[in-house]
Amino acid sequence: MSLTIRPIEQKDVESCGKIGYEAHKTISSAHGYPSEQPSEEFGIELIRMLLGNPNSWGVLAERQDKILGSIFLHEFPPSPVAVIGPLTVHPTAEGGGIGRKLMDAALSHAHKHNHDQIRLVQSPSHIRSFVLYTKCGFNLREPLFLMQGQPLNSDNNRSARLVLDDNDISVCNELCKSANGFSRDMELRQAVDQGVAFMIEQDSAVTGYAAGIGILCHAVAKSNEDLKTLIANASTILGPGFFVPARNYEIINWLLENGFQIGWPANLMTIGPYQEPLMPFLPSLTY
Ligand SMILES: CC(C)(COP(=O)(O)OP(=O)(O)OC[C@H]1O[C@@H](n2cnc3c(N)ncnc32)[C@H](O)[C@@H]1OP(=O)(O)O)[C@@H](O)C(=O)NCCC(=O)NCCS
Repeated sequence: MSLTIRPIEQKDVESCGKIGYEAHKTISSAHGYPSEQPSEEFGIELIRMLLGNPNSWGVLAERQDKILGSIFLHEFPPSPVAVIGPLTVHPTAEGGGIGRKLMDAALSHAHKHNHDQIRLVQSPSHIRSFVLYTKCGFNLREPLFLMQGQPLNSDNNRSARLVLDDNDISVCNELCKSANGFSRDMELRQAVDQGVAFMIEQDSAVTGYAAGIGILCHAVAKSNEDLKTLIANASTILGPGFFVPARNYEIINWLLENGFQIGWPANLMTIGPYQEPLMPFLPSLTY
């Protein structure tokens, strides 16, 4: 029976959302982690939201009118990076090469749109997805931990302030470029609109910024002291926690000493040119 790969439509939202929930529940309960998709409603809303996002593109796999899985690819213009996820296949259809076909469709869409840098955040407890991504050409770049805890609201003597205007955005983008080789302008502007982006200035130079502190937020800082200041200044942690590179012992240990816990591990994986960030950073769930 042949497998069809086609664009996701509104009528598919519920099926794709339910499969996402089932797939994540199966894998997280096997490993004793909380599920990335805590309820069926969450899974459905996630698909609905992505379908309504002009920078997201999604396809599904179906056989004989039965939906078996789906995948999304996201762009963050002007960033050259395209991001894959979520990718989910119904647990009963695992092992039939459906994941590979969905990945091939997403990678070919990314290449058609001239993205040579493609990234994703993988759940390392799931060896299946690690093998699939590796076979597709992805390279493990950075192991991560999702850190969970209460905002520190510390009276740190170095303080951060809100990113307010185009000038602030431009200096933060320059810092991002010097760390990563490109800016994350779109995500920073969205965080500014939400009033959650803040920055640190020292002698009128920016030494760090955070597009919020949370699972969909990123940050760049010249030093770990600056990164701590950004984290300590957040009055809210957006979502279930935020990712920290596991190799950044100083930040992980500082968070643990401040009552944070490790929620779950993750892996940042990439295809194409990759510049290891030249400064301490916090990645988002996307990259
Ligand atoms: C990850 C997921 C999408 C994979 O879907 P799938 O249809 O089973 O994937 P495929 O069968 O195309 O590919 C899996 C590959 O891993 C291989 N594999 C699995 N376990 C392996 C192991 N322990 N060692 C070596 N290879 C392994 C399979 O043989 C297959 O490779 P092949 O096609 O060359 O034989 C699916 O399992 C899923 O939805 N999981 C839950 C959600 C999730 O984790 N999503 C990814 C988030 S990062």
